[in-house]
Amino acid sequence: MPATTPFGHPDDCPLVLAPMAELSHAAFRMMLRRFGGCDVFFTEMLSAGRLVREPAHRSVFLIQDPAEAGLVHQIVGGDPELMGRAAALLESRGVARVDLNMGCAAPRLIAKGQGVALMRDPDRARAVVTAVRRSFGGHLSAKIRLGWAEHAAGLPDFCRMLGAEGVQTVTVHPRWQHEKFKGRARWDYIARVSQWAGVPVVGNGDVLTAGDAHRLRAETGCDGIMIGRGAAMRPGLFREIVDPAAPPADPAAILAEFIALLERYLPAERRLSRLKIFTHWLAQPLAFGHSLRTRVQSADSLAEARDRITAFFAACPTGASGGAATPDRI
Ligand SMILES: Cc1cc2nc3c(=O)[nH]c(=O)nc-3n(C[C@H](O)[C@H](O)[C@H](O)COP(=O)(O)O)c2cc1C
Repeated sequence: MPATTPFGHPDDCPLVLAPMAELSHAAFRMMLRRFGGCDVFFTEMLSAGRLVREPAHRSVFLIQDPAEAGLVHQIVGGDPELMGRAAALLESRGVARVDLNMGCAAPRLIAKGQGVALMRDPDRARAVVTAVRRSFGGHLSAKIRLGWAEHAAGLPDFCRMLGAEGVQTVTVHPRWQHEKFKGRARWDYIARVSQWAGVPVVGNGDVLTAGDAHRLRAETGCDGIMIGRGAAMRPGLFREIVDPAAPPADPAAILAEFIALLERYLPAERRLSRLKIFTHWLAQPLAFGHSLRTRVQSADSLAEARDRITAFFAACPTGASGGAATPDRI
């Protein structure tokens, strides 16, 4: 049944947490959930090959809280048969929303014909969608970029193909493959993707403040708003979008809670690396954030990182900055 809202969510213009490798895990998602404001949550990308090989109960990437009903599981891969099997496996575990990664521009994925590589190989992209659509009965979405600048003429047909083959929601991060994160996201493409695909379209890219979110909606008429780096730099951002009077989030409290959630959800050997990754982003808008980031990066244990964070905020209690930092290029 065609959904008229993104991911079949009842709200008019849901706010969506982006899939982010090594960031959009259960601890981060649950922290955002406590702030409120975010309607739909993505996992980080899950390798289809790994999903079908690895016993599900052992996968750290599949850890989720029982409260996370409706989580969108994003799968990545270039082999239609494997992608179909991965989606079927997820469905057998109760997953109701699967997203196809067709936008990731990491060279290691492109080399394997995955992520945005599918956008220059429309036949294989179609075969992936068909295989997944055949094996998965839940809500199917796809996340794309603009593709490859040299194949720009094929973008309308690519979007039409997605809608025609049963993709029910398209998220677009409107940058070309070669742009990675450079320049500004080309929001003017969002309405066009929506027309071509004929399904609800979620706009994504460069939303760092509540004002950006409102502007994205007003300028593009998008059906949903996805936020990635902005949520890692300002975990209170979703709440600020829905409640302009919301008090600013306290970064010291955020980190303390994040560590507690890492201890709750992730196995011990993953916690320190995930804390370093999150701190990389959280520190960016903070006064003296580089000092916080350096101290955490060089910690050898979670306990040491925690002590250093406590010392940082004791010396620098007004670490918070209300402004929007320009995110690092990655
Ligand atoms: C650290 C990091 C990891 C990412 N991992 C993924 C991923 O697993 N799957 C995906 O489709 N996009 C991934 N992205 C892209 C984001 O989902 C999003 O499209 C991009 O960051 C633009 O949105 P933003 O400006 O709100 O950050 C990643 C981005 C970042 C910064």
